[in-house]
Order: sequence, then structure tokens, then C-alpha cells
Amino acid sequence: SHNVPVITIDGPTASGKGTVAHRVAQHLGFHFLDSGALYRLTALTALRHQTPLADEHALAKLAEKLPCKFLGHEIWLGNEEVSNAIRAEEVGNFASKIAALPAVRHALAGLQHGFRMPPGLVADGRDMGTVIFPHATLKVFLTASVEARASRRYKQLIDKGFSASMEDLLKDLKERDARDSNRAVAPLKPAEGAYLLDTSDMTVEQAVEQVLRWYAAVKKSA
Ligand code: CDP
Ligand code: CDP
Repeated sequence: SHNVPVITIDGPTASGKGTVAHRVAQHLGFHFLDSGALYRLTALTALRHQTPLADEHALAKLAEKLPCKFLGHEIWLGNEEVSNAIRAEEVGNFASKIAALPAVRHALAGLQHGFRMPPGLVADGRDMGTVIFPHATLKVFLTASVEARASRRYKQLIDKGFSASMEDLLKDLKERDARDSNRAVAPLKPAEGAYLLDTSDMTVEQAVEQVLRWYAAVKKSA
């Protein structure tokens, strides 16, 4: 699978990685990997089983055996559709806690490599360019101000029928940024050779176009 092109899009929470990565994948007819969803699925399962954060071995076992399926926009866990359930802030927060555990990351790595299939893959997350696909064709690091990200997340949560407060979200986002950036394994940081894109004042369309332009340029020079 090493000649299958990969575009990695990493960045902090609510920077727009998922939205941009999905659109880029659609445009190119590539597969799409939402790696954060795998951490969220593991977190949701652990919360339901009341598996404590301290039990790294049990959490890694859950990650290894995740009965998940990705069907277009739908994410399934066993025979339950959990696309909305995994977006709860509680799940995102627990996801970022278990994501600091090496055994959990290791358990999910193989699953992620399996998404690299012809004609290509767009993968979004925190360590797609640094750890999982270090030889990706194009690596992008998406950012936006914490205020822009909080208001994007606020709108998403309200649209999904969750209640939300701007004040709590800002606090949550800052905590999660710190946890994702400061952890010992696979911390959030731009990969070597990554293209930086600050989308604070950009529309989704503008961000997608920029990534597609970079990809066209990189492909040409390869
Ligand atoms: O949507 P948001 O950016 O808030 O989070 P996500 O991408 O759904 O990921 C949820 C959590 O999983 C993040 O806070 C990260 O701690 C973790 N994660 C990770 O460690 N590595 C990845 N490749 C993807 C997510
Ligand atoms: O995956 P990540 O957590 O980085 O973000 P997301 O789930 O894609 O959410 C980003 C939200 O901000 C979506 O509702 C987008 O429509 C919106 N947005 C964006 O992604 N990019 C912009 N330049 C402007 C808004």
C-alpha cells in the first residue's frame, strides 16, 4: 500500500480538520479516515462499561476489539448508530484522556493503517502526519484561534441538539489543547514538512481549495 497517496490533516479540536478532510476526500474520490472517531468510539465504550482511566490494559483491549463500521456519514458500534452519541463533549473529553495511553494508541494504529487503500486516503487527527503516516504525500496542519474554534463547536453542538455554554466550551477547548499538546506520546504538533493553514478567517471552501492546490503542486513535483 506504500504507493497509495495519503493526505494527512492534523490540528487542534474544532479547527475544521474533519470537515475539510471529508470534502477533500470527496473531491478526489479518496477514502476518508476520521481517526478521532476511533478514540471517541473507544471512549464511549469505556464510559458505558465504566472502565476506569487507570486500567490501561482493559482500555487497550476495548480499542483492539472495537466492533465499528464506517458507512458514508454513519458510524456504527455493533448494531447501534452512534454518529451523534460520540460527539458529546463528555465523550470527547474522555477520548483525549485515553488517547494519552500508549497501549490504546498502539491498539488503534493497525486499524488506521488499514484505511490506506487505492485510489488514496485523506486522514484527519492529531498524529496522522507525525506517527501514523509519516511518509504521506501531503501533510497539512490546520489551526484557528481558540475563539473561532469555540464558536464553531458551539454551533455544531446546538445543531446536534446538545446544550452548550460558550464559557464551558472555551475552558474545555483550552484544557484539551493542553492535554493533546503536552502528552508524552504522539503530542499534537505539526509534522516535519507540514503545510500550516490558519483558518480563523477562512470559509470551509477556501480551506478546501488551499489543500487541493497544495496537493496538485506536490503531486506534480513527485
Ligand atoms: O473533534 P475534535 O478535534 O475535538 O476531536 P477528535 O478529532 O474527534 O478526537 C478526540 C480526541 O481523540 C482528541 O482530543 C485527541 O486527544 C484524540 N485523538 C488523538 O489523540 N489522536 C488522533 N489521531 C485523533 C484523536
Ligand atoms: O474535526 P475538527 O474537530 O477539527 O472540526 P470539525 O468537526 O470539522 O468542525 C469544524 C466546524 O467549523 C464545522 O461545523 C465547519 O463547518 C466549521 N468551519 C470549518 O470547519 N472551517 C472553517 N474555515 C469555518 C468553519
